[in-house]
Amino acid sequence: MRERTTALVTGANKGIGYEIAAGLGALGWSVGVGARDDQRREAAVERLRAAGVDAFGVPLDVTDDASATAAARLIEDQAGRLDVLVNNAAIAGGMPQEPSSVDPATVRAVVETNVIGVIRVTNAMLPLLRRSASPRIVNVSSSVGSLTRQSEPGAEQTTGPVAVAYAPSKTFLNAVTLQYARELSGTNILINAGCPGYVATDLNGFRGVRSPEQGAAIAVKLATLPDDGPTGRFFDDAGIVPW
Ligand SMILES: NC(=O)c1ccc[n+]([C@@H]2O[C@H](COP(=O)([O-])OP(=O)(O)OC[C@H]3O[C@@H](n4cnc5c(N)ncnc54)[C@H](OP(=O)(O)O)[C@@H]3O)[C@@H](O)[C@H]2O)c1
Repeated sequence: MRERTTALVTGANKGIGYEIAAGLGALGWSVGVGARDDQRREAAVERLRAAGVDAFGVPLDVTDDASATAAARLIEDQAGRLDVLVNNAAIAGGMPQEPSSVDPATVRAVVETNVIGVIRVTNAMLPLLRRSASPRIVNVSSSVGSLTRQSEPGAEQTTGPVAVAYAPSKTFLNAVTLQYARELSGTNILINAGCPGYVATDLNGFRGVRSPEQGAAIAVKLATLPDDGPTGRFFDDAGIVPW
């Protein structure tokens, strides 16, 4: 079994996920680059290796059971265990997303990736995480999923436009994070949700104001929590985000 800390980041071929992989790699960790497209994955692995990261490719479509199972097998072969899982992969689902006119298929697809995908990958990886001395799970969420923020005056400014698929998918993800934290309390696994802020990536047509490196910082922090660190919480760079 490897002595080196091993992490898996889903959706690591670009955007915030890529920078999370780079940030964890800079700690000297071995980083699995989870990505569904072969070319995009290999390009990211090459770029990370050129930057000195011990990166390896993990074919992974978070919407596919067999893909998640195969990814767990690959990591077991590669490292024997998993120390940190960062569930980063997500889709926005396309805008506008007004409740009165949304195609239910859009809601279903977004939930399938952003929520069920996290459950699928987490459950595939849990047996490997349980072999780690200090396992951490980081769910990359968003403050648009905060019901508190959504119901405050000025929500348009803080949480963006009405989006009946994407925003509730992150609310759902936060709730799922809490349920895992409850089930896993009493184990050494810490699981938290983190919001990267409004980051310029493909997800929002590069309209975000933060860089992907800035967006990655909260996930890196939650991936490196001490053993007595929090679990079942929702953070951004400024601290706790209200549910
Ligand atoms: N950007 C922001 O302002 C912002 C704000 C708050 C939270 N977030 C969250 O940050 C995370 C990263 O988003 P981003 O902004 O970096 O977006 P992005 O650049 O669009 O990256 C999304 C990543 O997820 C991957 N992905 C999507 N569906 C997948 C699937 N079925 N299986 C595997 N991978 C899949 C994409 O892979 P492909 O290249 O194959 O599509 C891509 O690597 C997401 O959870 C997002 O909700 C972003």
